Amino acid sequence: MSTSIKKGAELYRGKAKTVYHCDDPTRLILHFRNDTSAFDGARIEQLSRKGEVNNRINAFVMEKLSAAGVPTHFDRLLSADESLVKRLDMLPVECVVRNIAAGSLCKRLGVEEGLELEAPLFEFFLKNDELHDPMINDYHIRLFGWGTQQQIDEMQALTFTVNGVLKPMFAEIGILLVDYKLEFGVYDGELVLGDEFTPDGCRLWDAETREKLDKDRFRRDLGGVVEAYEEVARRLGVLLD
Ligand code: TMP
Repeated sequence: MSTSIKKGAELYRGKAKTVYHCDDPTRLILHFRNDTSAFDGARIEQLSRKGEVNNRINAFVMEKLSAAGVPTHFDRLLSADESLVKRLDMLPVECVVRNIAAGSLCKRLGVEEGLELEAPLFEFFLKNDELHDPMINDYHIRLFGWGTQQQIDEMQALTFTVNGVLKPMFAEIGILLVDYKLEFGVYDGELVLGDEFTPDGCRLWDAETREKLDKDRFRRDLGGVVEAYEEVARRLGVLLD
């Protein structure tokens, strides 16, 4: 870890990352662990190298988004599996955009996995494992104080902007960006992208074979989970060899 930043006490332990305080009160340290969770934490396994691969993919994607004008919490890499980020006040909602039908959309509405959507589809979910992250809408967010109308509008706009950057970026390396989940928070009064963008929180399919290169390999017991993440990292140019 960089000598200029001192790691402090643990602030929060999530399912795949641990968040630490540091000696700069405006910053936090994210530790990407090897833990891999599915079904809201019902199944957790250690997959070696996953923390490091995700830390690298996340840094690359966050920098790409930042360069495209999306405000993100990412500051810099600190070590193989740790990054320095701005300390945000997180909103308890998850923003999902889908380009191709998969996952809960298929279960909920009976549509076929793999159906190409005519336009990107936006959905909000409440971040609450005990309730299994139920789908919510703008009314729930306003009524229960999870966010303001302005934050709702900004989250939607930024999540679509991210699609406009990442869909072509992945297409260039032969990968379909099927769907992804983003989380936002507030820093200095501004809405900022937080959490992570890694194959743990999105769906990525090989464009030719439609092979899954994301956490569905774990959810569905397909094997080769970290190898698939490493393939994504290699194609992005963030993993050599
Ligand atoms: P879903 O099909 O389960 O609703 O998920 C859509 C996308 O969002 C998928 O790429 C996984 C991601 N996601 C998470 O990573 N965590 C979550 O809690 C939720 C609801 C979705």
